[in-house]
Amino acid sequence: MMFVLLMLLLSACTTLVNSVASQLTHEVTDPLTGNSLQCDSCPPGAYLLSSCSSTRKTECAQCPEGTFTHVWNYIDECRRCSVCGHNQVVKKECTADSDCQCECKPGYYYRKGFGMCVRHSECPSGQGVFTKGTPEKNTVCHVCSSNTFSDFSSALHNCTAHKKCIDAGLQMVLRGSTWHDSVCANCTELKDGGDYLKEIIPAFFVHHKMNKRLHRIVHKLLSENGKKQSTSELNDLELHAKISAWAASATAMQIRQLPDMLAKTLANGSGERLWTKLNHINAHLTQCGLGSVTEGMGRSA
Ligand SMILES: *[C@@H]1O[C@H](CO)[C@@H](O)[C@H](O)[C@H]1NC(C)=O
Ligand SMILES: *[C@@H]1O[C@H](CO)[C@@H](O)[C@H](O)[C@H]1NC(C)=O
Ligand SMILES: *[C@@H]1O[C@H](CO)[C@@H](O)[C@H](O)[C@H]1NC(C)=O
Repeated sequence: MMFVLLMLLLSACTTLVNSVASQLTHEVTDPLTGNSLQCDSCPPGAYLLSSCSSTRKTECAQCPEGTFTHVWNYIDECRRCSVCGHNQVVKKECTADSDCQCECKPGYYYRKGFGMCVRHSECPSGQGVFTKGTPEKNTVCHVCSSNTFSDFSSALHNCTAHKKCIDAGLQMVLRGSTWHDSVCANCTELKDGGDYLKEIIPAFFVHHKMNKRLHRIVHKLLSENGKKQSTSELNDLELHAKISAWAASATAMQIRQLPDMLAKTLANGSGERLWTKLNHINAHLTQCGLGSVTEGMGRSA
């Protein structure tokens, strides 16, 4: 009996194809005669009430709700159904003849090395979801191909096509990249270069990881507007929201000064990158044929 129980425990979730035949019957000693008898075993979904004797057949009973046997057996109690683990959901309910099957809940996949369900990875800005994660597999990301971009990190979204300025009757002043959209201008209604750069500021900070420096940048931007506010308790999401809000209400002048502010005080290199973007915008604006509009739009001193 112990052996069969052990076999059942060891064989959970596998089928004992080879040993099933040998378990169709089991040997008992008739209590009356002392003779050895071959009794029928009980089928999957049932357990043994009483073994046969020289006068009666084996008696089996259905496994009660919440228990199961998945092989021929002669155990006197069905196994208790498994309980799905942390971050798992039932894929197939337990039945009398099979244990339940579990899988990772939506948004999670089974990471074998960890032996548990972990959250699907997000594809960072500049990359899109090539293949969505499944309960078994993690997300597969890819770098956005030409003419597409992604300006936020996501486990669900693919890259989006850059907008086509020309289709809207507008002039492209900044070519889209993997992490920001194209920026368009209306040549009959030109604005300051800073106003166009503004459009990519939130995406810029999302893409160029500033880590701890992000707090200092946001603190500086907010104090610029006379808003004294502690930023130390804000998380990245909230910091980015602050930057977006700042950019939305910033003057063109403030935006134009941002590259220098970054380069001088905080994030080495990223100031340069932003400045390059502003230069591209200004160069394109001159192509609108209104040279005077770009006056004074160079790098602020
Ligand atoms: C994402 O876009 C790429 C390239 O356009 C495509 O091959 C891939 O199938 C897309 N993935 C999803 C999940 O839509
Ligand atoms: C460009 O600006 C002019 C002047 O405000 C306006 O009449 C025109 O509709 C605008 N063009 C587009 C494509 O938005
Ligand atoms: C700025 O960049 C230069 C060269 O890339 C590097 O040597 C220097 O350490 C950086 N400074 C800071 C404060 O990160």
